[in-house]
Amino acid sequence: MRNGEVFSNRADVAVVGGGVIGLSVARELGRRGLSVRLVERNRCGGEASFAAGGMLAPQIEADARDAFFELACRSRDLYPAFAGELLDETGVSVELDCTGTLLLALTEEDEHEAEHRRRWQQAAGFEVERLTGEEARELEPSVSPRVRSALRFGRDWQVDNRQLISALVASAQKYNVSIHEHTEVLGLRVEHHCVRGIETTRGNLQAANFVIAGGAWSSLIRAKADSLAEATDDSPLTPLIQPVRGQMLCFKSEEVFARHVLCSPRGYIVPRRDWRLLAGATVEQVGFDRSVTDVGKRFVMRNAEEIAPSITRLSLVDEWAGLRPRGESAWPVLGRANNVDNLLYATGHFRNGILLAPITARIIADLITRRDGSPEFDHEWLKAFAPERLHTAVA
Ligand code: FAD
Ligand code: GLY
Repeated sequence: MRNGEVFSNRADVAVVGGGVIGLSVARELGRRGLSVRLVERNRCGGEASFAAGGMLAPQIEADARDAFFELACRSRDLYPAFAGELLDETGVSVELDCTGTLLLALTEEDEHEAEHRRRWQQAAGFEVERLTGEEARELEPSVSPRVRSALRFGRDWQVDNRQLISALVASAQKYNVSIHEHTEVLGLRVEHHCVRGIETTRGNLQAANFVIAGGAWSSLIRAKADSLAEATDDSPLTPLIQPVRGQMLCFKSEEVFARHVLCSPRGYIVPRRDWRLLAGATVEQVGFDRSVTDVGKRFVMRNAEEIAPSITRLSLVDEWAGLRPRGESAWPVLGRANNVDNLLYATGHFRNGILLAPITARIIADLITRRDGSPEFDHEWLKAFAPERLHTAVA
């Protein structure tokens, strides 16, 4: 059911937000046999999840083998099965492309940074290959003659994030998830350290558990002040999530322009199967402003041209901007609110929400369905992402 008017019975789980994260969590819970309602204030997948480049690239930017790197690599490794299941369940291909990613070095500093990355990743057993500038151009003729060397990450992939949204909506519905679009959550009713329900523009919704997956808007989804009258410390400590704008340009080629995702430390070009090329992206803190600006477009164009000068000869067919959800540490916030028992957060995925969707779904579903502990995820490791590590009280 999409766009149901009335919330009749109490669900096992209510998920707030229909981006890639809310949809992946709702689908996974539905697969496990729970009754799930998802509420989205507009259309599903219309915000950051629509704007993304679809790179599944934990390795290109990683400078240390920390908890985040492990989370990102584990999620990337889930993708072939995730994409296969979505295809079987819905007939929608998410166009998982495993050609790989080139990180191009154009300056001495770029080379230095890349060399550090290659060394520690190879020593730790991760796949990465060094190419000369010439080898990079042999592999991808559109790459700039100014490229001095490159790293090839054969396991940093890409997916079509818009197809992914369509597949997730269809799959979630197959698992009987009720998706309510054009339904905005106005606030949580919290009593005695428990969310009793959520108020929406279409009435009150009750559930045993609540998952906040509101992307860049997650910090605005709070307890209603009047529901907290009895005990002020009932108020959940809401993680601080801020919007970070990313502007993108989209070009169309008449033939294959590149097969790998092409990146520099300043920008990237993602080649799609239909010969569109997505060039990104700005990283701007400008509040909830999703506009595309002349300054932003020039920045993206300059960085795309540095990677592949001939891109300027292609037709510019589209442009857009989206708001990445960034937590205080830039790591995602995954887990139970520390003082409200049945409230969970799945947010703050910043630049990697498409990549992190499958593992986020499994972590949140395990927290809800396996109260005695997850066999897959180490409790101590999960603490690196827990909301309780942040102490940002609701104003
Ligand atoms: P969103 O997709 O923003 O979804 C949140 C949803 O919650 C929205 O639909 C919103 O309407 C809804 N909502 C909010 N408040 C309420 C409310 N009160 N009631 C009901 N609904 C509500 N990631 C990658 O892994 N690879 C990439 O290559 C990549 N490239 C990117 C490029 C750009 C330009 C941008 C902007 C992002 C990129 N990202 C990438 C990051 C990725 O897009 C995000 O991390 C991810 O989409 C976040 O998903 P989400 O579901 O948390 O948020
Ligand atoms: N991960 C790409 C971006 O956020 O622009």
